[in-house]
Amino acid sequence: MIIDGAILAAGFGTRMASPVPKVESVVLGETLVSYPWRALLSLGSLLGQIHVVVRPEGFWRNPGLEDPAGRKPALVVQPVMDGTWGAVEAVATSGPFLSGKASHLLVVNGDGPLLDEGLLARFAGMGQESPGALCLATAELSHPRGYGRIIRDASGCVVDIREESRASEDEKKILEVNAGIYLIPREILLSAVSRVPSDSVKNERFLTTLVSLVVEEGGTVRTFPMTPECMLGVNTQEELSQVTAHLRTRINRSHMEKGVTFWDPSRTDIGPLVSIGAGTVIMPQAVLEGKTRIGCSCRIGLGVHLADTVVGDGVILRDYVVATEAILRDRSVAGPFAHLRPGTDLGEEAHLGNFVETKKTVVGAKSKVNHLSYLGDAEVGSDTNVGAGTITCNYDGYDKFKTRIGSGVFIGSDTQLVAPVSVGDRSVIAAGSTVVSDLPEDALLIGRAPAEIRAEGGIRYHRRRKERGSSRSGQSSPNKKGQE
Ligand code: UD1
Ligand code: CA
Repeated sequence: MIIDGAILAAGFGTRMASPVPKVESVVLGETLVSYPWRALLSLGSLLGQIHVVVRPEGFWRNPGLEDPAGRKPALVVQPVMDGTWGAVEAVATSGPFLSGKASHLLVVNGDGPLLDEGLLARFAGMGQESPGALCLATAELSHPRGYGRIIRDASGCVVDIREESRASEDEKKILEVNAGIYLIPREILLSAVSRVPSDSVKNERFLTTLVSLVVEEGGTVRTFPMTPECMLGVNTQEELSQVTAHLRTRINRSHMEKGVTFWDPSRTDIGPLVSIGAGTVIMPQAVLEGKTRIGCSCRIGLGVHLADTVVGDGVILRDYVVATEAILRDRSVAGPFAHLRPGTDLGEEAHLGNFVETKKTVVGAKSKVNHLSYLGDAEVGSDTNVGAGTITCNYDGYDKFKTRIGSGVFIGSDTQLVAPVSVGDRSVIAAGSTVVSDLPEDALLIGRAPAEIRAEGGIRYHRRRKERGSSRSGQSSPNKKGQE
């Protein structure tokens, strides 16, 4: 049996009141539509293609639909926004579906990110148990408002789904609702093309009308109970925050089961693709997103924000480290307040201290860049000490240039390295130097203007200033400590 997936993602989501199409809203760093995409991918060998129904305007900036196996979505344009059946019909009549071999189409809403992979696999299994039946996932909600209600006859068989807009007061009291997840046999799907009428109230063609169509023609409709959480959809910003809270709980719980310690899991945001090793401790307000991978026994400080970053074992990230597309190798230490921009590679046991910014920079093992530095387009060897306030001047206003610093180097505080430039192994640079040409191995560079010391010059200076008074009117006089 092969099942094709279909994600309905063409609706704009007007109730979100945002210029961003609803399914591209971001939840824990990933787009809303990428959640059902990954849930469908989890069906593995059962899965044929995944059709994603999109808007004609091509409003599709960053869907984030990636697959480690390289599968691409089959994009289907829904020509007019005429409702959920219009979206499914667009798939049913598309070349990729018609030429494919799928016996069923598993339809999910693009705005439901909480689909549980295990339940979805069992739901898909109904295709084997009752190959000719139209299968629906349902849930019992204590507050069913807004969802389609499941209408059953006296013997308990499903006969219809009633949308809220058409439901009577009695029907609105029904707690069993349509989860928006359907398994439709190919024959039912193809025979319904062009036969689902528009709803008289909303003037849309509802996918839910397929149920009464099948029942009228003597077909079988089966239901599959899902947990209420699984089917929560996003129609408003408030619901977006609610599903985010559910996902946060679910993701953080799974990390705790694998030995990760949270000071407060309700205040830590971790994306669905992030992996974390056992023994790692995470302080509040950390945000870990994208394909970030963290090793074992690390310490992730308060407010640390990592995106697509690889962290080895035993790494210490002090408070407010921000890293994007960076690598921090085993037992390295960063922060507080360090900014590791893309292309940073911090070596084993290397240190990057407070107010240090790095970009496209490799720092070798055990090297230290501890205070107030900027290293861009740089390579630093191992066991090198980069003094406070060291700056690589990597940009001349037009192009970027590289700085190469060897191993065992000592760079004094407040050094500027004007790239392109290289510093040989074991060289020493005196504090306050401006380095404009290459330095060989084992050399000493003192690149600062010689100091001039005039005995009692300070006394003469103050006397002159007092005699002259303030040159600018209204300027305040020196304070008690003599500073302006
Ligand atoms: C739908 C169901 C409702 C169910 C609920 C579960 C219908 C008519 N109603 O209601 O029974 O309880 O889901 O969450 O199906 N979309 C398109 N093209 C369109 C319209 C919508 O692709 O023309 C997509 C949307 O992007 C969305 C999905 O279909 O991802 C569902 O549409 P939405 O308008 O949110 O349906 P609901 O009112 O939530
Ligand atoms: Ca919805």
